[in-house]
Amino acid sequence: MDVIRTAILGYGRSGSTLHAGPIEKNKAFHLTAVCDVDAHACQMAVARFGCRPYDDYHRMLKEEPLDFVIIVTRSDQHCQMTCDCLSAGINVLVTKPWAVNADEAQRMVRTAESSGKLLLPWLPARWGSDLRRLRQLVVEEQAIGTVFLVRRVQGSFGTRNDWQTERRYGGGYLLNWGPHIVDTPIQLLGSPVKSVYGRLKQTINPGDVEDIFMGILTLTNGALVQAEYTIATESLPTWFLQGTRGTIVVNGTQLKVNATTPAQPSDPTKYIAMKAAPDRILEETLTGNLYGDEHQIYKEIAAALCGEAHYPVTPASALELSRVLDAIRTSSDENRVVMV
Ligand SMILES: NC(=O)c1ccc[n+]([C@@H]2O[C@H](COP(=O)([O-])OP(=O)(O)OC[C@H]3O[C@@H](n4cnc5c(N)ncnc54)[C@H](O)[C@@H]3O)[C@@H](O)[C@H]2O)c1
Repeated sequence: MDVIRTAILGYGRSGSTLHAGPIEKNKAFHLTAVCDVDAHACQMAVARFGCRPYDDYHRMLKEEPLDFVIIVTRSDQHCQMTCDCLSAGINVLVTKPWAVNADEAQRMVRTAESSGKLLLPWLPARWGSDLRRLRQLVVEEQAIGTVFLVRRVQGSFGTRNDWQTERRYGGGYLLNWGPHIVDTPIQLLGSPVKSVYGRLKQTINPGDVEDIFMGILTLTNGALVQAEYTIATESLPTWFLQGTRGTIVVNGTQLKVNATTPAQPSDPTKYIAMKAAPDRILEETLTGNLYGDEHQIYKEIAAALCGEAHYPVTPASALELSRVLDAIRTSSDENRVVMV
């Protein structure tokens, strides 16, 4: 491929920024078309890229010679649009949440397999600077021993009043934030999820979906993950990791490792000091984007489309995530622990 003939389907907040930005800068891509039902959005793209505008993606797929479509529409639209683009013989990148449930995700995976085209799930937090540094500390350096509990929390005080507050459009914080904060602890610990307990709750947002969720996941290796999005709060640590030899606390870009060695009592009937050695404390500021550098991700997308490298986010792992998000919802709806 000399140049990747690309279209953006859904030139809204995210399509016109997170995706159009790196496409504009990366010479491997040429944005030849845009599709949006909003005429103003199309005009903005045409003025910026000189691309052809469409308000109907079926017509775009018929008329436009394309190698790659980037789907950044509402979440309820992703599955059908993805399947239609793949079936038209075009590679697809689909933003998060790539599907509103695992059944849809499975359909997309099957369509990709039968089409022979690439299906690239957008899970940018897998490139996050926090996850990268935690991997070094936890996996490579074993800085706090064996990690047995990871809490991942995201909070805000903001309310919203758009389609993200409506279930029929695939709204709700589980689908919106789960791909960032449920996925990354699982990726860090590298062990499949065995069972899930979840809670969803609507508090201050309008609409009919949750603006708070919590998932307690038991991984196959025995570790626990508590992933939580909460609203009307600001100050909780974003990561809190406990290992057999210490803790790591991350608050935004501030990271602190507190490593220690538990005491080994020679007489088990006596309680002795909890620490055998003084703490080793490391404090640092994370650099780089916590939700991934979109320019770097698009370099890797270009390499995958040109057959030079594998895209690191496999459809199988995104499908697994969809199953976990479904399990959190089912657990909350049915008030029970769900096996994954
Ligand atoms: N960090 C991230 O990865 C990130 C950030 C924000 C949003 N997102 C995801 O991106 C998606 C879009 O979110 P947004 O905030 O940009 O929404 P948005 O409403 O701003 O954009 C959606 C666009 O799709 C267009 N659209 C709707 N129906 C269409 C159709 N049938 N054909 C063509 N265009 C159509 C709308 O007119 C709009 O311009 C969501 O799934 C969201 O979860 C991801």
